[in-house]
Amino acid sequence: MDSKALNILFLSSEIEGFIKTGGLADVGRALPEELAKLGNNVVACLPFYSKVDQSYKQSTPIVFDFLLNHCDRYFVKAYLVEKNGVSFYLIQHEFFDREGIYDDGYKAFEDNILRFAFFSKASLELSKQINFQSDIVHANDWQTALVPFYLKEHYQFDAFFAHCKSILTIHNGAYQGKSHARWLHPTGINPQYFVANIFEDYDDLNMLKGGIYYADKVNSVSNGYAQELREEQTGHGLAHYFAKKGDDFSGITNGCDYGTWDPSIDKSLIANYDLGNITGKHKCKAHLQSNLGLPVIKKVPLFVNISRLTDQKGHHFLIPALREFLNNPVQVAILGSGDPKLCEQLDQLHIEFPEKFSFTNGYSEALSHQMEAAGDFFIMPSVFEPCGLNQIYSMRYGTLPIVRSTGGLKDTVIALDQDNDKIATGLAFNRCNSDDCLDALNRANQLYYDFPVVFKRLQRNGLKKRFTWEAACKEYNALYTQ
Ligand code: ADP
Ligand code: GLC
Repeated sequence: MDSKALNILFLSSEIEGFIKTGGLADVGRALPEELAKLGNNVVACLPFYSKVDQSYKQSTPIVFDFLLNHCDRYFVKAYLVEKNGVSFYLIQHEFFDREGIYDDGYKAFEDNILRFAFFSKASLELSKQINFQSDIVHANDWQTALVPFYLKEHYQFDAFFAHCKSILTIHNGAYQGKSHARWLHPTGINPQYFVANIFEDYDDLNMLKGGIYYADKVNSVSNGYAQELREEQTGHGLAHYFAKKGDDFSGITNGCDYGTWDPSIDKSLIANYDLGNITGKHKCKAHLQSNLGLPVIKKVPLFVNISRLTDQKGHHFLIPALREFLNNPVQVAILGSGDPKLCEQLDQLHIEFPEKFSFTNGYSEALSHQMEAAGDFFIMPSVFEPCGLNQIYSMRYGTLPIVRSTGGLKDTVIALDQDNDKIATGLAFNRCNSDDCLDALNRANQLYYDFPVVFKRLQRNGLKKRFTWEAACKEYNALYTQ
């Protein structure tokens, strides 16, 4: 073991390879694995949802119990899965024996606060059970935001955690784990902490707010978003509390797992390709067009979008923009799931433009890789975007991102302007409305048809660009050692 190696306990409600709904899962796998590669000892915990491969239950679990508050005792089974240098523990309880992860398809589970408070404290208890004395406990998002609180209040006098520091990474500040104050007692939060600068938020309990207060360090997943979080208009109601953290709140841009997202080795693709020879990309395009029922035409620009369908992602103004844009010789393909109203509107758009527009309502990892490879452009019109991963994947696949200038999108994509085509990697627009979005789509279209040399230059710039986890982990390591 390296002399500077740290013991890191990493908690996430999603980890790719076990369970994924969005980018948190990508980070939940890549970050602990990279930290382990750098020589740290990493234990990562996630809930054992019923959607996770149940065959992991064949191993012998660690069985223990603990008190979440003064009187409620919980019994836990934790199953170990060793992968790529990380010890992953699946925390099992009937809380997670449900079809959905966070909701039943329509509504968030009413007891989510309790489910994830349980998961958070159970993970700390597990570390004691396995005698893994962590230097750092790394929590992610509201689901594990109670970890810093438990460490500072429940385990204040516990020698096992005496040298343990906490870090809370905010992947999405809009989700805060806000709920009725009746959850205070079940989750072990004494009323004395239910005050405006800790957990209280207009009479509700706000888990993320308490996490920000208690964590030794807080970071978000890009500098741009970290700055937006400090500002009233974009701080999701918590700007004051982020600003108050001062130097203990920073931004670290996510990396990309190039073992998974690399067109030269991607097994989901019909043909591989890379910078030197992108003919494989044309094959991927023809294959996708044919699979999606679009006319197989090489010389028409294909715009793709893969996304959770929520207000955050901008489909409410993208859809009207597309209704105009689709009158051009273009093709657009969307893969997404979520808001039923947006799904309906996207289905309707397909009825209006059956030869030009395809919508796949669902979740498919293989298709997401195929779309990244097949597209000429990737549309990412987010209202806000803490980091965003698809624009980073897109660059690696030679698919030009068209982004709204916000948060991580602004930080990672160099938008084309008058004379920066030597370095530009995509296109951008500023305001969240259909006109600005349509304007960017039209500029992209013009680039494709009228300026093919510039288009190819941007494609090459993107193919060369790297956002490595190694670089991001160096920043995390620096934060840990502070
Ligand atoms: P967010 O985490 O806000 O959803 P990111 O861009 O950080 O946004 O990450 C989204 C991740 O989820 C990417 O890996 C993307 O490919 C994946 N994803 C989103 N929706 C789907 C879907 N319908 N099918 C397959 N993958 C999806
Ligand atoms: C969140 C954000 C996204 C980010 C991801 C991983 O889901 O919405 O922007 O890339 O987390 O950090």
